[in-house]
Amino acid sequence: MASIASIFLDIFHASGVTTSSLSITQYILRHAKLSFILHFKVVPDVLCKVSDPLVYANLISKISVGRTFKTTNFERHNFSDDLILDIIRKSDQFDQPSFADIGVSDGSGSVYLADKLKAMNIDVVLLDKYQYLRVIRNWCGKKYVNEDGYIVGLKLLFLYIYCFPLHIRADYLFDSQIRFINPVIYERSLSIEYFDIFSSQSAVPFSFIKAANLLNMCYFSKQELLAGFKNLHRSIADGGYLFIIQNQDNYESLLVLKKSSGGFSVESSHNDPELLDLASNRKISWDK
Ligand SMILES: C[S@@+](CC[C@H](N)C(=O)[O-])C[C@H]1O[C@@H](n2cnc3c(N)ncnc32)[C@H](O)[C@@H]1O
Repeated sequence: MASIASIFLDIFHASGVTTSSLSITQYILRHAKLSFILHFKVVPDVLCKVSDPLVYANLISKISVGRTFKTTNFERHNFSDDLILDIIRKSDQFDQPSFADIGVSDGSGSVYLADKLKAMNIDVVLLDKYQYLRVIRNWCGKKYVNEDGYIVGLKLLFLYIYCFPLHIRADYLFDSQIRFINPVIYERSLSIEYFDIFSSQSAVPFSFIKAANLLNMCYFSKQELLAGFKNLHRSIADGGYLFIIQNQDNYESLLVLKKSSGGFSVESSHNDPELLDLASNRKISWDK
């Protein structure tokens, strides 16, 4: 259980001054000192005013949907994506290979690999659990509600208050919703569908699944990560692969797991992935 002090520290860090104006938001973000002094936060509303894909990826990266942020960027995992491409090119066991990228945020980080896979005639699906925030307006401002029905934040005039650690539910009518999808995804005729790594299962298993900056220890406990592995195992075809990527500052790691009947076996690992020990734990019976 998180202590009361850590809950209030989380709230303080993710709360601050805000505005729904895109130009003021961009101006403040361009001036790091000003942003720091104001303790400035980006509200989801500004995304509806953005048509530039790079600006969209930059702004969505500052938005939290609860336990995870939507942090992303174009060509964020090229190192891993090139290795993944190599593995997919060499694997010939699937007649019609399919590829799913899970936890894609606005999809900008998926485009580099998706373009190459589509050119190889491979089906590509982009998936994420938190595809939008719902908005409730009232006399005091706006409430932003996530997929699980929890109030993530409140906007009161020029103040954004991050509420998620308090776990307040909002089970009533919503006025609108702000959808998270980068303009570039429409241009590619792609879409982002719902998938929860802990509970969703694909009717037809994928040959390859990529999860970048999602299966991280900073977001989930070991027990939760194991539950995620077990669930994803069901959505991968026999002999298929799970690619786990993590980006931190100037460091990118990749863990390549291959599905076997009893679980996953580690095919390769690059730059010391934090989940290597957890994933190679042979005592775990995945299908139970
Ligand atoms: C830090 S972002 C990573 C975005 C992108 N993969 C990248 O590396 O640039 C984490 C993403 O995981 C999504 N997410 C969080 N919990 C999830 C869950 N249980 N199932 C699927 N996606 C989830 C969030 O909505 C968010 O878009």
